[in-house]
Amino acid sequence: MSARQRIDVGGAAPYAIHIGPGLLADGEALAAPLRGRQALLVSDSHVAPLHADAVRGALLAARPDARIDTFVLPAGEAAKTLAGFGDAIAALAALGATRDACVYALGGGVVGDLAGFAAACWMRGIDCVQLPTSLLAMVDSSVGGKTAVDLPLGKNLVGAFHPPRAVFADTAVLRSLPDRELRAGLAEVLKYGAIADAGFLDWLSGRAGALLEREDAALAGAIARSCAHKAAIVERDPFEHGERALLNFGHTFGHAIETAQAYDGLNHGEAVAVGMVLAARLSARLGHASEADADRLQAVLERFGLPVALPAGLDPDALLAHMRLDKKAQASGLRFVLWDGIGRARVVAGVPADAVLAVLRGA
Ligand code: GLY
Repeated sequence: MSARQRIDVGGAAPYAIHIGPGLLADGEALAAPLRGRQALLVSDSHVAPLHADAVRGALLAARPDARIDTFVLPAGEAAKTLAGFGDAIAALAALGATRDACVYALGGGVVGDLAGFAAACWMRGIDCVQLPTSLLAMVDSSVGGKTAVDLPLGKNLVGAFHPPRAVFADTAVLRSLPDRELRAGLAEVLKYGAIADAGFLDWLSGRAGALLEREDAALAGAIARSCAHKAAIVERDPFEHGERALLNFGHTFGHAIETAQAYDGLNHGEAVAVGMVLAARLSARLGHASEADADRLQAVLERFGLPVALPAGLDPDALLAHMRLDKKAQASGLRFVLWDGIGRARVVAGVPADAVLAVLRGA
């Protein structure tokens, strides 16, 4: 398998996802989507020292006529605020960005979401190129055009759908990603197998060692197949009126765990790993699927060193209360992405609270 791959996302605003080692040094490729002469490189205080100079240098080598400013956020979810968004807009104003300017989002999901939202709003929308540097961002947040900032009331409450103009996922940057973040990204990769592709789950399970060792070809293959699944789903349902919600498999439980731990316990991917097992167990309890499939998913997640049980000390009733407040909950009651078995997910509304509590207590 070639280490460089390309996935095309169709729809009203088509774009390409480029995947492989060395892309952040490929100035010609990075500059190709730049229509005008101004670019704002948005990054954060962890990623910028590692990669911003190299990206800016590569872009300028390909486009010496361009002006490229850099805007650096403090690292972490706490920076994904309306104030941070305002600072990014001020940086675009200082650049004198015109309608053909481009925002390059270099970082993980926080940078991608905030920079994408600034691009969505500046002059009612300019181009955004996503340069994800975490596996989680490569396989999820950089693709599909969801952009947002958080409010004190909740995460991602202010935002817009604004598809990127291109995505460049440089697998070489994953070599410096902390192990825990790599595994968290792999949880989202495994999710695509769980919801849509049993064969992919087997493929991943057979390559756990290569993926955890960060072999470029294995990572590029896993990212490409994940992005192909996400691309197909967002192409059919860009605004999450239906099928796109399947991407939230494990997330209702996962968000409740993250909230109950005040975002200071399991990280997002780890919480989703636990959440997927709980969603599979709930599916079995409601008679949609077998416990054997839940066992199989759990075993694969364990191969990747991911947590599969509720962290100690979490109160099932408190978790249920968080789920009732989840913004994806509807008037019809508790709503979950469940499955009919590996690779066959669907949204189920009106899930009885006692079944959810039983699964939480069993975990
Ligand atoms: N992260 C889920 C989605 O993009 O819809």
